[in-house]
Amino acid sequence: MDLNVVILAAGKGTRMKSRLPKVLQPLAKKPMLAHVLETSFRLDAHKVIVVYGHGGDAVQAEIERYFPDAPIEWVEQSEQLGTGHAVKQALNHLQTNTRTLILYGDVPLISEATLNRFLNEVQPGECGVITVKLPDPTGYGRIVRDHAGVVREIVEEKDAGKEIRKIDEVNTGIMLADSIDLQQWLPTIENTNAQGEYYLTDLVRISNEHEVPVIGCRVKDPIEVEGVNDKRQLAKLERLLQKQLADKLLLQGATLVDPARIDIRGSVDIGQDCFIDINTVFEGKNCLGDNVRIGPNCVIENSVIGSDTIIKANSVLENAVIGEACDIGPYARLRPGTKLGNQAKIGNFVETKNIQMGDGSKANHLTYLGDSEIGEQVNIGAGTITCNYDGANKHKTVIGDNAFIGSNSSLVAPVNIGQGATIGAGSTISKDARDNALTVTRAKQITVDGWQRPQKQPK
Ligand code: UD1
Ligand code: CA
Repeated sequence: MDLNVVILAAGKGTRMKSRLPKVLQPLAKKPMLAHVLETSFRLDAHKVIVVYGHGGDAVQAEIERYFPDAPIEWVEQSEQLGTGHAVKQALNHLQTNTRTLILYGDVPLISEATLNRFLNEVQPGECGVITVKLPDPTGYGRIVRDHAGVVREIVEEKDAGKEIRKIDEVNTGIMLADSIDLQQWLPTIENTNAQGEYYLTDLVRISNEHEVPVIGCRVKDPIEVEGVNDKRQLAKLERLLQKQLADKLLLQGATLVDPARIDIRGSVDIGQDCFIDINTVFEGKNCLGDNVRIGPNCVIENSVIGSDTIIKANSVLENAVIGEACDIGPYARLRPGTKLGNQAKIGNFVETKNIQMGDGSKANHLTYLGDSEIGEQVNIGAGTITCNYDGANKHKTVIGDNAFIGSNSSLVAPVNIGQGATIGAGSTISKDARDNALTVTRAKQITVDGWQRPQKQPK
């Protein structure tokens, strides 16, 4: 049977104390709801319905950025009258002859593996609920099983007597049922309970009345089913997710000096023998070759780093493509559009933006290179600036193979520096410089013999 997913995301999230709607609060820089959606699509859900309430426009706009072409349908629940009421809003959208899995926008770490197990253990024609045993079950709906282990009832804390409150197996909220059963039974539930809410959990009692077995599928790890209501819980899940991501890198063979001090907000593909020092942050999609070494405190975003390259401490890379055996940093800033060949060197306090640099070229210190095409084996001296912006437009600098740019030169674009050209230190180059020649714009040095320095006048 095909699968539909309903994600409940209408809660206000008051305890977040934030203007951002709760389900957009980020984990690893991605909205919690996006994590749940991603998992849903990995389950091959034919349709995903999100029940939203507060901040609906912001939620839709943000989520559609992540999943521009996904089969997501949005249903508003304008008043939050309970989980049963929330699912009821989605009933018209369910496809015929499907099963419906109910997930939560604020339970972000539920895994694909657990959900697949759940989908297999519960057969079509049955109802299922994911449960967990908690050392302190206070506040949760309790799972009441009969002697055969069938779930008979879920009783909310506020409706429970003493005996039922002693049960330590609780409802995670995640449920699975034939869509047709939901469509027939949910409209009949009432709100005559301690909270005056329409409880989704009444589905369990109704299923039993119709002799539909209710399978309780227990997860071992409470983290997977933990909900997020405040920033403390958000921070806790962030650390747990980061631990999972670090573990994954370790199992793939990376050396992490301290797995608790790496943050991955996106993905990192690695080759063999990569070494990552402390406090490195990865964002977006990144790809590292073999034997890449990354020093402490680097920020690496949407970048490709070739094998045997070393990125030294405190470097920041954004949308950069770096060849093999390059030497970057410390304190290098590689901005979008930076493309380096092999064995290139970008040293301390060098900023690059939208440049190509050929094999073996170097800019070792204190330089800005923007909108430039730099050949192979070029040496760019300290303090070189490409003046690429005239206040209105950007212009290009082209530097040929084997050129040597003396220190403290300004290259005023558009300008070409020929192959093998030498630019004398301190030059301001605004016209093309010929191949294999020395070009220098520096004023001639003079010496005044017997020069007297001014003296202070006596008062
Ligand atoms: C619910 C369960 C409880 C379970 C607990 C697990 C019911 C009646 N109770 O209780 O058995 O142990 O979750 O955390 O289902 N929501 C809406 N619209 C609503 C109400 C809720 O979208 O009208 C969403 C919330 O945003 C939240 C989720 O449903 O993501 C659960 O709602 P919440 O009020 O937190 O449920 P609990 O009372 O904790
Ligand atoms: Ca509630």
